[in-house]
Amino acid sequence: MADENKKRVFSGIQPTGGFTLGNYLGAVRNWGVLQDEYDCIYSVVDLHSITVRQDPATLRRQIRESAALLLACGVDPERSILFIQGDVHQHAELSWILGCYTQFGELSRMTQFKDKSQKHPENVNGGLFTYPVLMAADILLYQTDLVPIGADQKQHLELARNIAERFNGVYGQTFVVPDGYFPKVAARVMSLQDPTAKMSKSDENTNAKIMLLDDPDLIVKKFRRAVTDSGSEIRAAEYKPGVTNLMSIYSACTGKTFEEIEREFDGKGYGDFKTAVGETVRDMLKPIQERYAVYLSDKEQLNGILKSGAEKASYLASKTLAKARRKIGLD
Ligand code: TYM
Repeated sequence: MADENKKRVFSGIQPTGGFTLGNYLGAVRNWGVLQDEYDCIYSVVDLHSITVRQDPATLRRQIRESAALLLACGVDPERSILFIQGDVHQHAELSWILGCYTQFGELSRMTQFKDKSQKHPENVNGGLFTYPVLMAADILLYQTDLVPIGADQKQHLELARNIAERFNGVYGQTFVVPDGYFPKVAARVMSLQDPTAKMSKSDENTNAKIMLLDDPDLIVKKFRRAVTDSGSEIRAAEYKPGVTNLMSIYSACTGKTFEEIEREFDGKGYGDFKTAVGETVRDMLKPIQERYAVYLSDKEQLNGILKSGAEKASYLASKTLAKARRKIGLD
């Protein structure tokens, strides 16, 4: 851990509302994979989640559940640092500094801000606006080389890169400029009910999303109910967004190429295909669900992992924060 010769990976996930299949295939699955080769740091980003009003008791519970679920998804605390963002105060501090090097216009152009402020016009708060600056601080604090994320976070990562380059341009080399790391398929898993929209945990239609902790039978049912397209062929094409989305999910879970999938279901109908995808996802999630229950039940172990994760993260973060403060003239 914190091996100077290995490249650094950082990523984060919000704790609220559970994790979707999109979170898993787009990002979290890669977190486990990258641990073999990289020096990995992963965070439950609780501060990001309060841009939307949360119930305190539910938030407190979901933060811990998210950490247990990340462990169940393959984050290995022996090889990676796992911590709660709010336990490491340097995130908020660097976020303030970087905010002073980020333009109002840049933040106004963020599509996630535009979407969310349209959806919740009653609560367009300052935190929602500066959200990408805190994300930049998360990444830059750890001198991160690679950020495993889904396609929807690409614009935020670009901003983090721009902030790093700008700061380095003024004060000399301070932050590593990070690159994104995206899965080859399923970088954007779409809604099962509207394949032109991203699968989102906040979707009110529960049939639109697969949650990692969904009941096994329900998972298959949701896939059976998934919206498909006109025609009956299993083929990936722009005019077949529903089938293409299911093929991407199936491909991500099985490692099969689109050609192989087309051949496998040649002459078969949508019904057979949807059942096969549902059963594959169900079987893939089963061991995760089993491990989750074990991690969540061992309170002491979970506390220990998060405490030690926060200590290690804080040590690394304090080095970068001190460097940035010195460069600016705050120290
Ligand atoms: P969040 O919590 O919304 O999502 C966590 C990760 O899941 C990916 N993702 C998807 N991938 C494919 N298809 C989908 N339908 C889908 N939905 C979500 C996201 O791209 C993300 O990688 N701002 C971030 C959290 C964050 C962060 C960071 C990430 C805070 N600081 C620093 C990386 C580095 C977010 O809200 O992700």
